[in-house]
Amino acid sequence: MAFLELILPILFFFSLRGAAGEPTADRAALLSFISRIPHSPRIKWNASSSSACDWVGVTCNSNRTAVLELRLPGVGLIGQIPPGTISRLSSLRVLSLHANRLFGPVPGDFSNLTLLRSLYLQDNLLSGGFPPAIHSLTRLARLDLSGNNFSGEIPFSVNNLARLTGLFLQQNNFSGVLPSVGIPSLTAFNVSYNSLNGSIPATLQKFPASSFAGNLQLCGVPLASHCTSFFPSPAPSPIPSPGSLTGKSSNKLSTNAIVGIAVAAGVVALIIGLICLFFLCRSVRRRHGRTGKGAPKIPAAAGAGVRSGETGMTSSSKEDIVGAAGAGNGERNRLVFVGTGGGYSFDLEDLLRASAEVLGKGSSGTSYKAVLEEGTTVVVKRLKDVSASKRDFELNIETLGKVHHQNLLPVRAYYYSKDEKLLVFDYLAAGSLSSNLHGSRGSGRTPLDWDSRMRIALAAGRGLAHLHGPARLVHGNVKASNVLLRPDPNSAALSDYGLGPLFGPGPAPVNRLAAGYRAPEVVETRRATFKSDVYSFGVLLLELLTGKAPNQSSIGGEDGIDLPRWVQSVVREEWTAEVFDVELMRYANVEEEMVQLLQIAMACASVVPDARPEMADVVRMMEELAGNASRGGISEGDDVVRVSSDEPSKPASGGRSPRAGSSP
Ligand SMILES: *[C@@H]1O[C@H](CO)[C@@H](O)[C@H](O)[C@H]1NC(C)=O
Ligand SMILES: *[C@@H]1O[C@H](CO)[C@@H](O)[C@H](O)[C@H]1NC(C)=O
Ligand SMILES: *[C@@H]1O[C@H](CO)[C@@H](O)[C@H](O)[C@H]1NC(C)=O
Ligand SMILES: *[C@@H]1O[C@H](CO)[C@@H](O)[C@H](O)[C@H]1NC(C)=O
Ligand SMILES: *[C@@H]1O[C@H](CO)[C@@H](O)[C@H](O)[C@H]1NC(C)=O
Ligand SMILES: *[C@@H]1O[C@H](CO)[C@@H](O)[C@H](O)[C@H]1NC(C)=O
Ligand SMILES: *[C@@H]1O[C@H](CO)[C@@H](O)[C@H](O)[C@H]1NC(C)=O
Repeated sequence: MAFLELILPILFFFSLRGAAGEPTADRAALLSFISRIPHSPRIKWNASSSSACDWVGVTCNSNRTAVLELRLPGVGLIGQIPPGTISRLSSLRVLSLHANRLFGPVPGDFSNLTLLRSLYLQDNLLSGGFPPAIHSLTRLARLDLSGNNFSGEIPFSVNNLARLTGLFLQQNNFSGVLPSVGIPSLTAFNVSYNSLNGSIPATLQKFPASSFAGNLQLCGVPLASHCTSFFPSPAPSPIPSPGSLTGKSSNKLSTNAIVGIAVAAGVVALIIGLICLFFLCRSVRRRHGRTGKGAPKIPAAAGAGVRSGETGMTSSSKEDIVGAAGAGNGERNRLVFVGTGGGYSFDLEDLLRASAEVLGKGSSGTSYKAVLEEGTTVVVKRLKDVSASKRDFELNIETLGKVHHQNLLPVRAYYYSKDEKLLVFDYLAAGSLSSNLHGSRGSGRTPLDWDSRMRIALAAGRGLAHLHGPARLVHGNVKASNVLLRPDPNSAALSDYGLGPLFGPGPAPVNRLAAGYRAPEVVETRRATFKSDVYSFGVLLLELLTGKAPNQSSIGGEDGIDLPRWVQSVVREEWTAEVFDVELMRYANVEEEMVQLLQIAMACASVVPDARPEMADVVRMMEELAGNASRGGISEGDDVVRVSSDEPSKPASGGRSPRAGSSP
């Protein structure tokens, strides 16, 4: 093969010599190039003698009218590639200048080399960003810029090079995130030893790890380092896989593929635009003189004030919210702290840099646990399908910000932009009631004892009663995974409340109520109400008592039967302990309480809304139940904000029930 390559030019040389003319224009271009750049004496291009087609490194077409290839590897070219020289070789298919000492940028007029198939510029000292001229070279199959000093981001527009089979960018100083390169024909790809960061897009994960090595901050498949960045980098694009194309044609892109690439280009351009916007906002804010950075947990009001440096007011003040909403849509999006903001001090970029793990995907969005660089941990909820306008969103969250109760998890901050709506909450390490109740059953974990369950139920009830009473808010999503535990069961807190108005009318609100907790009438009315909250709370109590998740399809062995109906059927047949969680059976003398709580639960879960008690009454009944059992510890002795003034005062002995730990 190599031999053939060697002798082919010689064959042409003899067969065609003198056969036709001279590539006059190209000859001038070549001479102009070589006269303007220092080089080794091996290049003896001589204006007066032979045809340009016979010069070292030059290959012409068969009738010797145009230069097709220029190969000058390792000939000691030193300096910048002179503009207006090589770019005039308008028929050029192959250009190789590799292993020289070229520096500076690639000339912009390289964009005129539209027929170029291969461009080898590796192992020089070229610098600047990814050469913009290359975007015009849509017929390129091989592009090698490796071993130079290129920097900046690898642009998404490399996808314009739709015929590329090999892209070599290793050993440069490219930075930023890797674009989602989805060129179907691409079979060789190397970006190793740059300064890239972020995750490797799905479209590139088929290449080996050595294609990505040496980028300390790059993560994800196929590298060993796991991605923990909060936002995934550009989403997998709808570019057809190589497999889907090879069957049809190997050379030409199908129309579908071109459309796919165009669509993907649009999507990712949008994402990149958004990211740019973030950084724009950030730099603007920087210029406005941010001062509080780096002081974790500075006092609440000050912390919030720093966020809104432009106005000098705390973000919690209504004027600022309204002002921000009025001042242009999108441009001033930022993280807004609600009320005191819980004393947090971080901003959107901190959040974006945080390592994150998914806590759960709910009907209203996905929750992440985000660990900020300074060590603070928060929960970020990424809402989906929000239909509220920015202003309505802000007013709604401000309303939620006014709700204060120990058993309600407060919203600490929010972020609203066209494409992203985030809520920030405290992170409670103990997890949710759901995970504690159902997680890893039977594998030697400590089950929730009766005493804890009773206290948690009461805490959740108090939270809900506060929402229904003083706050006049419908929770809309009462379920076990929205009851978050603290080390003290009395301090368990309801989360995710009052978000219904953000999602607008339609079938969505119904679906947002978790299956199993959804009151029967909600299916028709499509609206969560105080009464439907009470129903959900009843189901929650049944869940605590039975240890069964209400949305598991296998309750009673029959699909489609809900927890209240199942309990009813079991209880009707014979009053047995069968309904109760086996994990509760080990506690002596609690059966009477369990039966009473069961009755409260069943009242809450009545089919007829009017038959359901008010939350305040439910709490009172539960407190009486707990009080009768003289488990004084249920009355919290600390700084709880009282639900309602009519709450009976209770003996606060503070001791834990002696029963709690005593197992048979
Ligand atoms: C070009 O070739 C001619 C004759 O072949 C020679 O006299 C002349 O010195 C050469 N010029 C250069 C610059 O090499
Ligand atoms: C030279 O050959 C090319 C095709 O290889 C053709 O397009 C062009 O017209 C020819 N030029 C002359 C002067 O024969
Ligand atoms: C590129 O080619 C066009 C026409 O083919 C010409 O007008 C233009 O001057 C060229 N640009 C450069 C930078 O050589
Ligand atoms: C690489 O490029 C940067 C500017 O982008 C320049 O400061 C540096 O000197 C270059 N390094 C080399 C070895 O040319
Ligand atoms: C790479 O680029 C960064 C700026 O993006 C610069 O600080 C660094 O010195 C560069 N590294 C090299 C080896 O040129
Ligand atoms: C990647 O690096 C750039 C600076 O080169 C930085 O602005 C950006 O935040 C980084 N992105 C990630 C995901 O780390
Ligand atoms: C990528 O380039 C690096 C450095 O030149 C090399 O070690 C590695 O083998 C290459 N990987 C691939 C898949 O070409």
